[in-house]
Amino acid sequence: MNAVTEDLSVNKLTPTRLGLAHDFPILARPVHGRRLVYLDNGATTQKPEAVIEAERRFYRESNANIHRGVHWLSQHATDLYEASRVTVQRFINAAHADEVVFTRGTTEAINLVAQSWGRNTLRAGDEILLTTLEHHSNIVPWQLLCEQTGAVIKVVPISDAGELDLDAFDALLSERTRLVAITHVSNALGTINPVAMLTAKAHAVGATVLVDGAQAVAHHKVDVQALGCDFYAFSGHKLYGPTGIGVLWGRAGLLAAMPPWQGGGDMIRTVSFEGSTYADAPQRFEAGTPNIAGSVALAAAIDYVSAIGIERIAAHEHALLAHATAALAAIPGVRLIGTAANKAGILSFMVERIHPHDLGTILDSEGVAIRAGHHCAMPLMTRFKIPGTARASLGLYNDEADIAALVAAIHKAQDLFGTRSTAP
Ligand code: ALA
Repeated sequence: MNAVTEDLSVNKLTPTRLGLAHDFPILARPVHGRRLVYLDNGATTQKPEAVIEAERRFYRESNANIHRGVHWLSQHATDLYEASRVTVQRFINAAHADEVVFTRGTTEAINLVAQSWGRNTLRAGDEILLTTLEHHSNIVPWQLLCEQTGAVIKVVPISDAGELDLDAFDALLSERTRLVAITHVSNALGTINPVAMLTAKAHAVGATVLVDGAQAVAHHKVDVQALGCDFYAFSGHKLYGPTGIGVLWGRAGLLAAMPPWQGGGDMIRTVSFEGSTYADAPQRFEAGTPNIAGSVALAAAIDYVSAIGIERIAAHEHALLAHATAALAAIPGVRLIGTAANKAGILSFMVERIHPHDLGTILDSEGVAIRAGHHCAMPLMTRFKIPGTARASLGLYNDEADIAALVAAIHKAQDLFGTRSTAP
């Protein structure tokens, strides 16, 4: 890792520079002949050399199937896979490594809970409490579950700033609520939800709490024991790790009572044609050959982030968010969508008379990569009566120069559309 070039204190709100872009080979490649300004970290983060090398080294030196072989290489690969589980456990402060289930990503983790825990727990008339902020992956699995069980979904509304209506949350929560499934950080607006407080309220009525942490783990400290929730899901690829690997953390007691979701090798104790018995968690939920190399590379990503310090990353992104928010708000014709008091480094915005897709295309031609559209959060777009937004999402390698490039590219788009204001 390169040296950190500037001292960062947690409260510093002037733009900072971690000086780590050199650790990410892809950031050195030009796009359309321009410097790549990567501001689509909400979709996926880029990978540092340490992660790329960990995956490469696994295939060159350690590749074998796990939990099956008697040969040395299989034992070695198994040790690496299980060591990665411990790395995840420590990163999120889980009580036991056995509470960490490897999945394909956040989406699979949530579907696992819906189909294993939910299908065996919920009955007709039970209520699932969601929020308007949710990503489709924290909506559709519950809709499928409702079709199967007769449970019903209730939705907590938000304010114009994109903050949860806490009075509505209290009013919607009742003894009928069996599950509260809530995002930690909104992928479309950046709102950080008060998960610990909401969890305490949900537990008071006996509800179970699942947190979608996809947009949280790379950006601020996540301590599942301090949050107090029951399930926490996240993806490796949004944490500077590879695609195709993610995590479901669940309380040991809950996982122990949950039936298998998918059947296959590595999740059984015994199999006969009369019936099968199943392994304990987490193996019970990891049918088939998992993404072994991905788990090892995810652990390398966690080591990378931990060596920088997640608090340091949070402080850097917080300062850059403040800077970027002011820079965008100063452009006539730009409207920010999502202005919560407690926000992660996500800026959703509209530019007057330019469709977000057109804006995204013009920004791309300037080398600036953002996401444009509904961000897999269509109910949220409906709430704001908009088809979509342009979204810039920050990562640890972004700095003031990237925000300057974003602002210049927006001006370019306004020039092309003849909508740039000359007013002071
Ligand atoms: N969930 C990812 C995003 O917000 C893909 O862009």
